[in-house]
This record gives sequence, structure tokens and C-alpha cells, in this order.
Amino acid sequence: MISAAADSRWVVLKFGGTSVSRRHRWENIGRLMSARQNEGLQVLTVVSALSGVTDALKAMAAQHGDAAAMAAGAEALIERHRGFALELGLASEFLNPRVDALRRLVSDVRAASGAFAWQAELLAQGELWSSTIGARFLASLGLDLQWLDARDYLTSREQAIQTDWSRYLSAICDPRPSVAIRDDLRARGSLFITQGFIARQPQGDTVLLGRGGSDTSASYFGALLGADRVEIWTDVPGMFSANPRLVPDARLLRQLDYDEAQEIATTGAKVLHPRAIAPVREVRVPLWIKDTERPDFPGTEISAESAAGAPSVKAISMRNGITLVSMESIGMWQQVGFLADVFGIFKRHGLSVDLIGSAETNVTVSLDPSDNLLDAGTLEALCSDLAQVCRVKVIAPCAAVTLVGRGMRGMMHRLSELLAEVGARRVHLVSQSSNNLNLTFVIDAADADGVVPSLHALLVRARLTGAEGDPVFGPAWRELEGLRPAPQPSWWHGVRPALLDHAGAGTPTYVYADSVIRARAQGLLDLGAVDRRYYAIKANPHPRILRRLAALGFGMECVSSGELAHIRQSLPELPLDQILFTPNFAARAEYQQALELGVHVTVDNLALLDDWAELWDGREILLRFDLGRGLGHHDKVKTGGEKSKFGIGLADLEQAVASARRAGAIIVGLHAHLGSGIFDVGHWKSVYSDLAALAERFPALRFVDIGGGLGVPHEPGEPALDLGELDAALAEVKAMYPRYQLWIEPGRYLVAEAGVLLARVNQTKRKSGAQFLGIDAGMHTLLRPALYEAWHEIVNLSRLDEPAAGRWQVVGPICESGDILGRDRLLPASAEGDVVLIANAGAYGASMASNYNLRGLVREVYDDSI
Ligand code: LLP
Repeated sequence: MISAAADSRWVVLKFGGTSVSRRHRWENIGRLMSARQNEGLQVLTVVSALSGVTDALKAMAAQHGDAAAMAAGAEALIERHRGFALELGLASEFLNPRVDALRRLVSDVRAASGAFAWQAELLAQGELWSSTIGARFLASLGLDLQWLDARDYLTSREQAIQTDWSRYLSAICDPRPSVAIRDDLRARGSLFITQGFIARQPQGDTVLLGRGGSDTSASYFGALLGADRVEIWTDVPGMFSANPRLVPDARLLRQLDYDEAQEIATTGAKVLHPRAIAPVREVRVPLWIKDTERPDFPGTEISAESAAGAPSVKAISMRNGITLVSMESIGMWQQVGFLADVFGIFKRHGLSVDLIGSAETNVTVSLDPSDNLLDAGTLEALCSDLAQVCRVKVIAPCAAVTLVGRGMRGMMHRLSELLAEVGARRVHLVSQSSNNLNLTFVIDAADADGVVPSLHALLVRARLTGAEGDPVFGPAWRELEGLRPAPQPSWWHGVRPALLDHAGAGTPTYVYADSVIRARAQGLLDLGAVDRRYYAIKANPHPRILRRLAALGFGMECVSSGELAHIRQSLPELPLDQILFTPNFAARAEYQQALELGVHVTVDNLALLDDWAELWDGREILLRFDLGRGLGHHDKVKTGGEKSKFGIGLADLEQAVASARRAGAIIVGLHAHLGSGIFDVGHWKSVYSDLAALAERFPALRFVDIGGGLGVPHEPGEPALDLGELDAALAEVKAMYPRYQLWIEPGRYLVAEAGVLLARVNQTKRKSGAQFLGIDAGMHTLLRPALYEAWHEIVNLSRLDEPAAGRWQVVGPICESGDILGRDRLLPASAEGDVVLIANAGAYGASMASNYNLRGLVREVYDDSI
């Protein structure tokens, strides 16, 4: 017969230090316990010590030889807990047994040696205090609950490699679901509170479960009770695709399977301790991570279920303090058992190895400080033993950067940009886990700054993290924190009939909205620090755009005699002084023509001054410098840095001065343009100040041109460049160099958002589970996706309000496999003849279009009415 108790259902709630250190937090715990009880669940709450208490106890343990210091530490803790009891409105006498226990430990004979068994008992006091106070407080609120000593339920086991340190301070238990315990507890009541972090050896000594041990305790209890779930209550809404404090755009991970969560926790996320997963995984108890401040928010759910969706990189994390041990063979590498000997040495020193890279004559392994007691003594002893069999080199400090996602190997081809970014640093080791769940790079700790944010941005751009409609990814941290306003619908939502009319007249067609160009131009006109604005016509030389911008006071920047002629033809009235000629590797005749015409000419190669000396005598020109760095939305649009073909190197400054003098050229302007699609305001500030700092070498200097490159948001809701911030940054530099005019020459910023590409569906197709939407625009119409993996929003304009029906590969009609305009897009069921809109296509769209496959050049329409 099954007893009534046997079918009791349990939930384990765990609260960390900050969640138990304030009165309102305990009230919250009480509410949550009651709510779960009302759901018909038996509730066991596991608590950590009050914040800071475990650290204070550790400090006492470290002073074990100094009885007076320890006693002072103990009294301070006693005061703290009594004070907290008072804050909770409790008379503190009930704490007397805890006070006695702590004082006894201070005067314990084992304190003198600091024995690990004594340390464990001392450190266990924090949870015993907090759970005792909490139980009393919750009872005072009317909860009928029982206090349990966790050590009566959790028993540690011997580990395969057991040091005294791990036996007492980093113990492991093996709880199995126990009907007897469930029955027993059920008979005693339905609300319980106990301690995290502590357990007992079979022989009876108190032991600790290691760092983050309270999560592990909760998980152990979840397994022991065969709970419906374990809820870890913390101060963040769940696990994120990166540490949100470093990456505000990190996305909440709504759903993970045990393996993924394990990898993410193991490789650096601090929300959940890695040891907490195995116990629940074995018995398939789901584990939820919930935010104490937002109890109704769903958080992260970890279970055996794998979320459906396209392959994705769930998270990127970083661990610091990694030590690499590189072992070079000294002639005996092929010898049978050599690796066993080497690893035997690690084992003897109680060190667990994390990553391994091997070659014919070298094996390099990493040691993670969170798994190992890695003091200088241990390392030295290890190295001296290893030195008997190989040449040893320790590389430290290092950082391990890890990408986690199911099926990493299948995503490699989409990681090219990310690999390039990592490769710009000193990479010591690359490791791809054999479970196909992670890819790790070990780099110098000194190179680790900023690596996680930039890699996360690349993952988002490659649609490998947070792809549209992927159920795993919840809101970005930035949104949750209310930092980002709700996205405004793009302008084209409001003019759908007009756009459908334009498409009716023929596709593919670019449509440019006059009002959007005017608005962007106004933003730049409002930059008070800027004296002149030139429009880089390569972004879009449509004559109507040139006329609109010229009418608003913009000059024109061009890079070829073709562009120059086009400006003269479209804007015959434009003063020559308003034209900039900034070519790169152009023919001599092009310079000659521009100089004769009398526009501003920029030289970015000193050989021209020396070899074509007859061109320059008495001419006022600009020199373009490469400031040694490049920036931009893709490697292919970075126009600065060692390998870039643009500009004069800073090392050649003196030579530039001399060559210009010899050629008789008068340097009136300095120029730099280091890349395109930049959002960092500091970039232009530093370009400006770097160029201005060169000014004293050029006595006739009148202006500094800091180029273009102003980025536009790729997707709805992405924050735009803050022009106010840009203006303020430029004004700061201007205040230091008021003598020189400041010029800018943006292209994209003025026109990108103003343009949409309208195309029509030619065909749809299904193949091996993939769904293709074939439209009449392709890489010949919009090259950016193929060339830069640029992401453009794509919608079915004919069915704008219809729900998505699966993921589509949006492709063009060109006979090239790279002819893909958008991958895995969520679009409604679409059919031949539908009109598709591709957004943000006003810059470098039509201007880079071709007649490839003789498909004809794309149509363009400039619409004054929108
Ligand atoms: N000035 C010079 C000297 C340039 O070379 C460029 C762009 C600009 C100004 C304007 O940069 P913007 O403000 O538009 O970022 N096809 C690429 C962009 C290449 C930009 C080339 N130079 C794309 O579609 O992203």
C-alpha cells in the first residue's frame, strides 16, 4: 500500500546571502513559501549565510593562530546577528546556543593548527545562524515551519582523489530519492527551512560543499526529495548569453538543457554553481533560476528538454586566473605510458586538469583556480616533479573565453569574423569539447579586456545568438533594466500603400524617403562643433539626394573622376570649394583633373608628392593619415591599421613634411577616415585629437577632416548613435585647438535608413526541411549581405500583419551560392508575386549594384512625399 505521504509533491527554494540579509527579503521568502504551499506543494527552503558572513568566518579561520583576533572576529559576528534579530523584531535570547557554539570553536584545541575539520565546522556557522534567525522570524509571521539540520540529511562520500582540503571544504554527496525521508518529513509538516553549504561525513564530522555550495545543497535536497523542481532565487532574472554587467545586450536564456547549463555554469557564469546541476540532472528534477525582485518573471528553466530552434551559441563566458602548463617532450614522447606518467603527477598533486591541447612534442593543459588549490607552493612542487620527465613552462595569468551551444562544430563556418577577432590576440590554446558543446580560447589575461562584449556583438550579428523568434532567448538585460526605450516602428510601416504602388511600377526598386534624409541631415547640421559637412557620395549618388543635401548646406566628397563629373553635372552651381576629392590609388590624370578644376585634393601616398612633383607646386592640399587603427562593422570596411592600403603612416610624418616642402605643396588640411559603421563616439574624438596633435608640423594648416563612418542601427530598437554625445566630445577637442576648422564627411548616416529595397517573390521552394523565398533582388541589387554578412531587416510587405509561418532563407536569382539576402527569417506564408521589403538599404545599396548575370540595373525612386 502506498502511504499518503509517499505521493507528496515537493519544491526546494534556495535563497542566497543578499536574499536573507534584510527584513523585507525574509518577508518575501515567507510569501513565496506560502504561495508554493498553496499550490499543494511541500516546501523546503535552503538558505545561505547573511552576506559577508562566510568571508568573515574565513578571515577568522585564516587567523587561527591568533586567539585574540579570532575572538574579536567572533564577537563582531555575534553582534551582527543579534542586531539582525532585533531588526526582525526578535528578542535575541534564542540565539544563545549559536553564540556558545561559535565561542567554543574559537577556543577549540584544533584552532591552533587550523585543521580543516575545525575550519569546516567554523564556516558552517554562517548558515546555522541565518537559518535559525529566519526560522524564528517566519514563525513570528505565522508560518508553521520546522527547522532542519541539513547535516542530518546530506552525507558526504569519499572522492576518487581525496585531499584533506577537499574532504572537508569541498565535499561531494550522492543523494538518492528517499521515500523514507519524504514520509518522515510529510508527517512532520509541510514547510521546512534548512542550511545550504553544509553536510556531514559518515563518521560525523561537519563538511562543506565548496564555493557556491548552497546551490548544490538545494540541488541535493531536490534529488533527495524527488522534488517537482528546485528554484534558485537570486538577484538577477536568470542566466544570460553573457555577463550582463559586461554586455548590456546579453539576452536572457529562458530554457536550457542540463548539459548546456552545466557548460555555461562551468565556464564562468556566476549565477549558478556548476556543481548544482549534476544532482538534479540524474533524477531529472527541473531547476529554475528566479529573480527575487521580480517573482513573476519566468527566469531560466533548466531541464532535460532541449529547446527547439536553429543551432545557436547560447552563451559566451570568460574565466580569469587560468594557469597553463606547457610540457615539451625531451625525447621520450612516444614512449608508452608517458602521458599516464605526466597526468599521474597532476593527480599526485591533487590538481584537476581542465583543457588539453596536444602535439607531437608538446602537451599543454589548463588549470582552473576554482577547481584547484593553486597556490605558488603547489605549482612549484608540480613543476619540479614534471621537470623530471619534460621541459615545463607555466603561462599565467591567462583567461579562458568559451562559447557554449549544442552542436558547436556545425556552426564553425559562421564563426569566421569571431575567429578573426579572437585571433587578433595572443591565443595560447584552442579547445573544442568532445561533447560538441563548447569552444574555448585561452588568451593572455592582459588581452582579455573587452573581448566578451565584442565577441557577443559578433555572435548577435551572425545571428548565432538571439536570432529572431528563437524561443530560447528572452529580453536583453538592457531592456529588462529599462535602459532601452521600446522600439519605434520604422517610417515605412506608415506608408505601405505608397510603397506597394512603387513596387507595382516595377521591381526590384530602391525607394528613398525625402523626409528621412532631411531628418538625418538636420541631426548633423545641429553639431555645433563641426564647421563643414561633406556628403560621401559613394554611399548613394542619386542626383536627387545630392541636390537635397547641397540645398541644406552640405559639400560633396568624391573619390574618382567619375564621381567628380557626376557632382558637377548634378550640382553645377556647387562652389568648387565645397568639393573634396579623396581618392585612393587613383591614376595621375584624375588628380591632375581635380587640381585643375580647383577642388580640395587629398593625398594619401607620399610617393605621389615625390614622383609627380610637377602636380603640386603651389597647390593647397590635404594629407590623409592612417592613425594605426581601423574600426567598423566588418573587417572589410576598416580603412586604418597596419595592413590597410589607405593613408600615410604616422611613422612617416617627418618624411611627409619634407616631401610636401620639396614638391612645393601647401598642406592646409589633415584627414583620416578609419572605417565605416562606428558607434563609439570616442572614436571621432580620438581621430580629431590625434590629427590636431600633428598640426604644429604644418604651419599653413586650416582644417582637420575626421572622415565619416557614423553608424546606423541595424535592427529595430538598437540604440542609435548619440549625436549630442558626439558633439560634446568634439567640442572638447575643439576647445583645445580652436584655430582649425573641423570637417566631417559621412555617407551612410545620411541615407541608409532613408532607403528601402522593394522586391517581388519569384518562387518559393522547400528542400530538405529548408524553406526558400526567391525574390527578384539578389546580390546584384544589394551586395552587402554577401560581402559583409550585413543584416537587413526583411518583411513581406504584402502580408505585413500576418503571423510568421516558419523560417525562410531569402535568396536572389543569381547563380552564386552566396546570393542570400537573409538567413532564417521569420516570415508569413508567402507566395509568388508578394512584395518583400528590405530595410536600411539607402547606403551602399544601389551604388554597389551590378548588372551581373545581365539581370539589369536596379530601379530607383526618390519620393518627396514620404
Ligand atoms: N570618407 C572616406 C574617405 C571614405 O572612404 C568613406 C567610406 C566615407 C568617408 C564615408 O563612410 P560612411 O560614413 O558611409 O561610413 N560599402 C561599405 C562601406 C564602405 C565605406 C567606404 N568608405 C558598406 O556597405 O558598409
